[in-house]
Amino acid sequence: METKLNQIVIAAETAIKGAQSIHELMNLKSEYIGKKSEVMNVMKTLGSLSPEERPAVGKIINIAKQKIEALIDEKENDLKEKEYLKTLQDSKLDMGMPGYAIQYGSLHPLTIVWREIEDIFISMGFDIAEGYDIEDEFHNFDALNTPEDHPSRNLADTFYIKDDVLLRTQTSTVQIRTMEKYQPPIKIISPGRCYRNDRPDASHSPAFHQVEALVVDENITFQDLRDTLNTFVKKMFGSHMKSRFRPHFFPFTEPSAEIDISCVNCGGKGCAICKNSGWLEMGGAGMVDPNVLNKLGIDAEKYSGFAFGLGIDRITILKYNIPGLRILYENDIRFLKQFTFNN
Ligand code: PHE
Repeated sequence: METKLNQIVIAAETAIKGAQSIHELMNLKSEYIGKKSEVMNVMKTLGSLSPEERPAVGKIINIAKQKIEALIDEKENDLKEKEYLKTLQDSKLDMGMPGYAIQYGSLHPLTIVWREIEDIFISMGFDIAEGYDIEDEFHNFDALNTPEDHPSRNLADTFYIKDDVLLRTQTSTVQIRTMEKYQPPIKIISPGRCYRNDRPDASHSPAFHQVEALVVDENITFQDLRDTLNTFVKKMFGSHMKSRFRPHFFPFTEPSAEIDISCVNCGGKGCAICKNSGWLEMGGAGMVDPNVLNKLGIDAEKYSGFAFGLGIDRITILKYNIPGLRILYENDIRFLKQFTFNN
């Protein structure tokens, strides 16, 4: 019987190795180890053997069956792999074709300029201070010497959240917050978002951005203010650029001035953008009012300081020649995509 089983195994091996498809292989499986196979027929004869003979013979049959099963499994894997490779070939899938390139986003132009401003001031020895978008009247108005009846406190100009709580209208709030916390020497800038109840147009947006600067130390003069601003303007727009001051009034600086820079479009000759003046308005500035210093516990006899606030939105549209503020807030992908050069 053992020889007979060996012959079956050898015959099965030849047949299985020659199988060309899974279908053919499955037929061989039932032929050699299926219910009606010769191996099973031998198995059925076990019953007629004596109990002593049975285990040994049973073992021989099982080994033969396992050999055939192993051969079938091996062939099945082999055929499946071949079938898979054939499908790949037939489907004309080109494994060498380049994939899709990942589309990178770009920084918003305001972010690009915001970071550039920070870099310039850091290189001049400034620290970056942060304030709050939601403020109280004390930090936005009172501490900045703003009279009770000042028009900017009006509901029509300022967004109030409730009685004493508002969206800050200027980054000058950070002057106060910094001086409350630190004694001189102080040398900070603070870029951030501000809010005013303005109707949106080419030069107004209810939310906009300013960068505040505050320097307080012994012997700080108006000349330091001029030098700092001039250096910034040249680093930001190019060495040919100039800045100038026009007398103005702010409640928290004395003297105060408005800052102009030479027109980025015509270089100062006069054009439509600068309304033929050769200058563009950039923000406000002045020497910190001694009243403000004293109220915050900084000795105005010993210390003096300057402050200025510039419009980041304005700097951005001038730097990139963008026609008006509005497009900065519209999230138009065709506009934003043009700033990928900065990635
Ligand atoms: N906060 C002022 C404004 O928004 C600008 C300013 C800042 C003026 C600092 C003087 C000093 O108009």
